[in-house]
Amino acid sequence: MSRKKIAVIGGGNVGQTCAHVCAIKNLGDVVLTDIVEGMPQGKALDLMESRSISGIDVDIQGTTKFEDIAGSDLVIITAGMARKPGMSREDLLDANIKIVKPCAEAVKKFAPNSIVIVVSNPLDSMVYLTAQVTGFPKNRVLGSAGVLDSARFACFVAMELKVSPRDVQALVLGGHGDDMVPLVRRTQVNGVPVENLIPKDRLAALVDRTRKAGGEIVALLKTGSAYFSPGTATVAMAESILNDQKRIMAASVWCEKEYGIGGYFMGVPAILGAQGVEKVVEIELVAEEKAAFQKSLDSVKKTVQEMKGKGF
Ligand code: 2OP
Repeated sequence: MSRKKIAVIGGGNVGQTCAHVCAIKNLGDVVLTDIVEGMPQGKALDLMESRSISGIDVDIQGTTKFEDIAGSDLVIITAGMARKPGMSREDLLDANIKIVKPCAEAVKKFAPNSIVIVVSNPLDSMVYLTAQVTGFPKNRVLGSAGVLDSARFACFVAMELKVSPRDVQALVLGGHGDDMVPLVRRTQVNGVPVENLIPKDRLAALVDRTRKAGGEIVALLKTGSAYFSPGTATVAMAESILNDQKRIMAASVWCEKEYGIGGYFMGVPAILGAQGVEKVVEIELVAEEKAAFQKSLDSVKKTVQEMKGKGF
């Protein structure tokens, strides 16, 4: 069996983290692509030189040529501007349309059979754009957000309870914006409902922190946004697809009648396997959750409509 090939487009902080975690997990040969001459080559060589220490068998190549992604099984698009303090993800729309569109065109041309995971922001709109530009079947285009957002909520619950985050099962739905929907009712610590462990007002504070968690990191870093957790989350999705693990993960996926979404990419649970998005998993939401989900959907629709208004 030959190795899988993974292309990471965008060699910044998130891209390099994706490349590193893919390599450490030996998921496949990695091609790190960026437009800055020397940067992807340097990072790839640095990673290559770490292989005997980390137990990595796969190759990592750095390139500025899109054609080097040819034959990729999976493409991760991280290219784009990151937020500066005070910016929303939506503020990146104009800049990142210009960056993501040519990346999607290259994927269509050079890796026409790949599955594409988009990480660039504003996430749900950039997934939409990528699906439109590539024309790929909708099961082969998805966005990375829900695994990250759920991991952040799990982290805050674990910190509050001083327990291992490994035992926290959390699920965050909705768009990857400040009105995302952490599902408190479905959050558990090894089967124990979190509502039995944490008082209501503290839980509300954790939900609020989760919604703003990306911005919290931006405010601390000042020069960019988070990358360890976004990169690790994206590779968890990549692993489920490349190794046909069929894990249920929250991801920005195409929904028509599911959740009444009506033809947008939106964060919901889905089975991720060799076919990409193999099934959208519908769960019952109570009235309060439905209202929050609708608010988040309205935000996603607004940004997508704005993008369409610009001719995309
Ligand atoms: C975040 O939430 C970058 O959108 C990403 O940190």
